[in-house]
Amino acid sequence: MNEKQNGKQKEALVKELYEKYPYPARKNITKEGAIYFARWAADSFDSDATYWKGKEVLELGCGTGELDCGLALSGARVIAVDFSSSSIKNAKALAKRLGADGKVTFLCKNILELNGDEFGKKFDAVIALGSLHHTIDAKKGFEIACANLKNEGIIVIGLYNKYARFRHRLKRFLLWSFCGADIEKRILFGEKHFGKNIKAGKAWLADKYGQVHESYHSVSEIKEWFKENGIEFVSSKPKLKIARIGEIKWLLKKKGAFFVMTGIKSATKYLFTAD
Ligand SMILES: C[S@@+](CC[C@H](N)C(=O)[O-])C[C@H]1O[C@@H](n2cnc3c(N)ncnc32)[C@H](O)[C@@H]1O
Repeated sequence: MNEKQNGKQKEALVKELYEKYPYPARKNITKEGAIYFARWAADSFDSDATYWKGKEVLELGCGTGELDCGLALSGARVIAVDFSSSSIKNAKALAKRLGADGKVTFLCKNILELNGDEFGKKFDAVIALGSLHHTIDAKKGFEIACANLKNEGIIVIGLYNKYARFRHRLKRFLLWSFCGADIEKRILFGEKHFGKNIKAGKAWLADKYGQVHESYHSVSEIKEWFKENGIEFVSSKPKLKIARIGEIKWLLKKKGAFFVMTGIKSATKYLFTAD
């Protein structure tokens, strides 16, 4: 097994990891804590948590559901999808504990097996934070996200950056060299040699070091995806002026290894580019 292993095997290992270590599995999260994530997501397009009131939202790769509960508590109706059944179980329990369960539906599904008519409706916002780069085809995942978006709807995607995650990519080279695809070995090796954020717990270590598959993307590449799918670029987080130079600055300043890009589905542009 190596970094280039075939898709289905990789996908099975990604699923195994999150079945065993649901992520982020934040302990003792409160309503205010969950709403913080909803505010953080809205901030990626320079808005605030009030934006979500009355909105229909789809989250792809929801993990343990903290953001979805925050969106629901901010007034959105949410459908959240993840293929880890243990994450979905935790997410449902969290929604019940926070009193958000009436407004959020958690579904155990593979993002790449969804289609644009999956839910019988389109959404005001589709969010995929930290999930598409763990699928075996991030671009296809993005196209599925766009297919579920209403015209004038907002898309928010968070991905690993090709340049700014360079330091971590070096660590992954060592993980592959010494531990191969053995999830437990990778976690122990990562904890021993690189792990600093021990307080964040095992789920964090598993996500960071146990993970066998992640893809990397640049701002220019995502802008290209946006164009191809009729999405107008709105904002990036962190902000940057010039792609590539800005991303190398992110690397030097140790930020942007995980970056968020936001766009709006433009009805006119979509029609214009259709043929
Ligand atoms: C790093 S976690 C991110 C969780 C959450 N969005 C967050 O930001 O904390 C990635 C999640 O994507 C899910 N995932 C990865 N590939 C998937 C796929 N093909 N279909 C559905 N979920 C997937 C994993 O199960 C995991 O819960």
